[in-house]
Amino acid sequence: MSSEISVIAVIGGGIMGHGIAQVSALAGCQVRMVDVSEDFLKGGVEKIKWSLGKLAEKKAISESVETVANRIATTTNLADAVKDIDYMIEAVPENIDLKMKTFAEADKNAPPDAILATNTSGLSVTMISEATKRPSKVVGMHWMNPPQMMPLIEVINGKHTSDETLKTTVDLCQRLGKQPVVARKDIWFFLAARSEMGWDTEANLMWLRGEAKVEEIDAMARYKLNLPMGPFELADLTGAVDIMKGAYTSIDKILTKNPDFEPDPVRLYILKRVAELISIPRSEEGKSGMKTGEGYYKYPGPGKYARPEISKELAEKVAPIEILASAVNTASRCVTEGVGSIEDTDKCFKLAFGWPKGVFEFADEFGIHNIVNTLREKKARVPDWQKSFYEPDRLLLRMVEDGKIGKIVGQGFYKY
Ligand SMILES: NC(=O)c1ccc[n+]([C@@H]2O[C@H](COP(=O)([O-])OP(=O)(O)OC[C@H]3O[C@@H](n4cnc5c(N)ncnc54)[C@H](O)[C@@H]3O)[C@@H](O)[C@H]2O)c1
Repeated sequence: MSSEISVIAVIGGGIMGHGIAQVSALAGCQVRMVDVSEDFLKGGVEKIKWSLGKLAEKKAISESVETVANRIATTTNLADAVKDIDYMIEAVPENIDLKMKTFAEADKNAPPDAILATNTSGLSVTMISEATKRPSKVVGMHWMNPPQMMPLIEVINGKHTSDETLKTTVDLCQRLGKQPVVARKDIWFFLAARSEMGWDTEANLMWLRGEAKVEEIDAMARYKLNLPMGPFELADLTGAVDIMKGAYTSIDKILTKNPDFEPDPVRLYILKRVAELISIPRSEEGKSGMKTGEGYYKYPGPGKYARPEISKELAEKVAPIEILASAVNTASRCVTEGVGSIEDTDKCFKLAFGWPKGVFEFADEFGIHNIVNTLREKKARVPDWQKSFYEPDRLLLRMVEDGKIGKIVGQGFYKY
């Protein structure tokens, strides 16, 4: 039970780890933060104190900075840190060998009842769990960046994760003040990023086919759909081309050991092609986005963010449904594949990506029949290698057959 969790080890005190440690300490837990050097730990603690100081200034916390910070002990000795924990959250760099080594060591030293969670963004939770002798107590706990601010946590049900481990983790998220969604399957990119991927992929394909410019697509997203930013702006902010390059590099290795990690050959193929044609070359040219000072837009300097200026008139150049159709289709596949519920998928769009509405809420407004027709039109005109990406998901086809075409008839993904 999550109420019994009082001691948490956070492994890795970097971008994610220090934020996770802070949130855990704020919820009253004793935290052991582990990193490879005292300097990294010192840096992590300084960031935590700075952030707590800001919260105290805004009167957003009831305890003093010192009281909360004193709940966080630091060490470079993982074995020591986990010896009396109830729960571990691993946030070391995204490397399968490193994660497996970390879990094997934690497993040897943590109490047998302790749950071991990984904050991996896209590696197989199942594979990581198999590095331990307690795979039923291993789970994915995917926080969003920055952990202090973002309300969503994606809980990933590995192949061996027990119901009890999953439930304890969902409860713990709530206790930490977060909103959990469950990715019911341990699958490539889990639920949030997997369901959002159609949106990004379509933007990339339209750009690749020369149908629209980067700024036109982003303008449509900002000004027509009222999203906080367009797909290319977001890619620049997160360094998406590097993430996709990393995913491309690791996926075949994961699939050799765990073929279920990507059961959809269409998705695997299209993502690999987009990585080869766009992400990898851009990453290698140093166009990773804000962090290198240049991506789809130019920034004041490496790591310095300035919101790209995008003129409102450009929004007229792209019809929202052109990209939304693929976004709905890909998200719908996640529901069909049993990765997540309709509600949880929409929650991801709203809480992880800041959309004003979930992708299925948009689908209901635009009409499911219009989404399906757009997909079919696109399929007819795109190059052969892209055609299968536009095959409408069977859930959408069934909804059209059943007349559940959206808000206009009072029933689509939701009832009205
Ligand atoms: N940055 C993001 O936006 C984001 C979002 C969600 C999830 N994640 C995931 O969180 C994990 C951590 O990412 P990050 O961005 O915080 O990386 P990071 O590089 O900022 O931090 C990783 C930290 O782990 C430390 N470390 C390395 N080896 C270690 C070991 N053996 N034991 C203990 N500590 C070790 C490093 O010194 C570093 O401080 C990754 O799996 C990443 O995919 C990242």
